[in-house]
Amino acid sequence: MKNDAINKGYKSISNIYDDYILSEKLLFKIIAKIIWGFTDKEYSIKLLENIADDFSGKILDIPAGTGILTYEKYLRMKNAKIICMDYSKDMLDIAKERFENNNTNNIECRQGDVGDIPFENETFDTVLSMNGFHAFPDKEKAFYEINRVLKNNGLFIGCFYIKGKVKRTDWFIKNFFVKDGTFTPPFYTENEITEKLNAEYKETKIWNKGSIICFICKK
Ligand SMILES: C[S@@+](CC[C@H](N)C(=O)[O-])C[C@H]1O[C@@H](n2cnc3c(N)ncnc32)[C@H](O)[C@@H]1O
Repeated sequence: MKNDAINKGYKSISNIYDDYILSEKLLFKIIAKIIWGFTDKEYSIKLLENIADDFSGKILDIPAGTGILTYEKYLRMKNAKIICMDYSKDMLDIAKERFENNNTNNIECRQGDVGDIPFENETFDTVLSMNGFHAFPDKEKAFYEINRVLKNNGLFIGCFYIKGKVKRTDWFIKNFFVKDGTFTPPFYTENEITEKLNAEYKETKIWNKGSIICFICKK
């Protein structure tokens, strides 16, 4: 895949991404509250709780972004082999620096496309995909590829923006984030994504926080 809009979009925000996603500083807190209606990161903490700190399998984190939501967890996971993959070099460079500064040799950062994951079938015990599907240009291909590289009984854990839950959020996505290249339509509705996950995975747990759908699925 060659997608300049995504590369450009994430290049331009990579230096403020961590502040934006954490929403701890006052300005970013206000922005997050207006756009999303909440500022806490409880949804990502709850998802990561489904991976044990002493987990000793292989994990693919795609898209890993800057690693801001995951690095504290990953630093505790000394027995796991973790592949952090992202399309944007600018985002991934920040993750790389973050992990290298912490002497982690079980974590590897690799540039790559979710639509063409460079691993064999059934390689990973867990695939984590937080806040990625609303950015991926070919979402069906991304679902296919993630399922392909996941082992049977493996877990697919993730979250992303869905349309039709909060009107104000939908308006900001359409008028700002699609234009700057950080979100790529078409977006799923809650019903569409629930049906899809239930059809493709044998066990699912699905819930939402505002416009964010969260899920844990067993293949
Ligand atoms: C909103 S960030 C999420 C990063 C991280 N998971 C988080 O929650 O902070 C979305 C990421 O998706 C990446 N991305 C977009 N299209 C991609 C693709 N086709 N393959 C891999 N990563 C992609 C972008 O480069 C960006 O870093």
